[in-house]
Amino acid sequence: MPRQDTIWERFLSPIVRSLINEKELRQFYESIDWQQEATRFQRGDVETPSYYSSQNFHGIERGYLNPGAAVSYDPITQYVLPPNETLIRQGLIDTIQSHPRRILDLGCGTGSTTLMLKQAFPSSEVIGLDLSPYMLVMAEYKAKTANLDIQWRHGNAECTGFPDASFDVVTASLLFHETPPDVSQAILQESFRLLTTGGEVLILDGNQKTLRQLDWLNNVFEEPYIRDFAAESVDAWMGAAGFGAVQTKDLWFIHQVTRGVKPLTQKARVSNRTEDIPLEGWMPSPA
Ligand SMILES: C[S@@+](CC[C@H](N)C(=O)[O-])C[C@H]1O[C@@H](n2cnc3c(N)ncnc32)[C@H](O)[C@@H]1O
Repeated sequence: MPRQDTIWERFLSPIVRSLINEKELRQFYESIDWQQEATRFQRGDVETPSYYSSQNFHGIERGYLNPGAAVSYDPITQYVLPPNETLIRQGLIDTIQSHPRRILDLGCGTGSTTLMLKQAFPSSEVIGLDLSPYMLVMAEYKAKTANLDIQWRHGNAECTGFPDASFDVVTASLLFHETPPDVSQAILQESFRLLTTGGEVLILDGNQKTLRQLDWLNNVFEEPYIRDFAAESVDAWMGAAGFGAVQTKDLWFIHQVTRGVKPLTQKARVSNRTEDIPLEGWMPSPA
């Protein structure tokens, strides 16, 4: 059952519901055999962490492990990322300073940022990873509709299974306010391992300063970990994970994008280029 005491449930949900074509959404939902489609992505070796399966997110029971979340995510998100969803996502893309050969988008969800990454870097190999096979079904549908060649992988961002130094850019948008701080830190450590020397990590999320100042913002949605996220600092986590040149910039006051670079070290100078490391060792999701 959704909680009734969030600002979303009390005030915003009725407004957004009036803007969404629920009949069309239901028809789309019913046109897909979700279990069969999810099975194409599901990997037997992926363990679902308890912080993820034990909580409701956004008032949806079992959170993202519910196909309803995959269908309703985009129609709602377009109204809850002011001033404009595309503008906010573009803020992450504009912060990338290199021309990556391979990009990994962690917690890619329905792939909204992943698709924009592929559009911005058409010659890059782009991979989206998520713990929910239902979100990946939706992401694949969107990429196919947009005629974009993106690979989708079921996995945990804390331990992706990809080889060391296999990406030039690792991104995560709107992921860290949904993961407990120790998980966010583990994801940054994994990102560090996955990046080539000089590779960039980009984290787009709610603005921690603003969330601390305007505590009521933390009550807008049912977000079990957002207060813990607000109390901490992505900058500090990145520094602790070994990243250099760490910088956070504000995006329209309520969002932020943090960039860090994997610094050059004696050991890393030897050879650390994505083109040296084919991804043959990893298996994409069966899809
Ligand atoms: C709020 S959504 C953001 C989706 C997308 N990145 C976006 O910008 O719209 C958070 C996503 O992170 C995924 N997620 C949460 N914890 C994860 C983890 N440890 N590994 C991979 N995905 C995770 C969820 O399944 C969900 O799809």
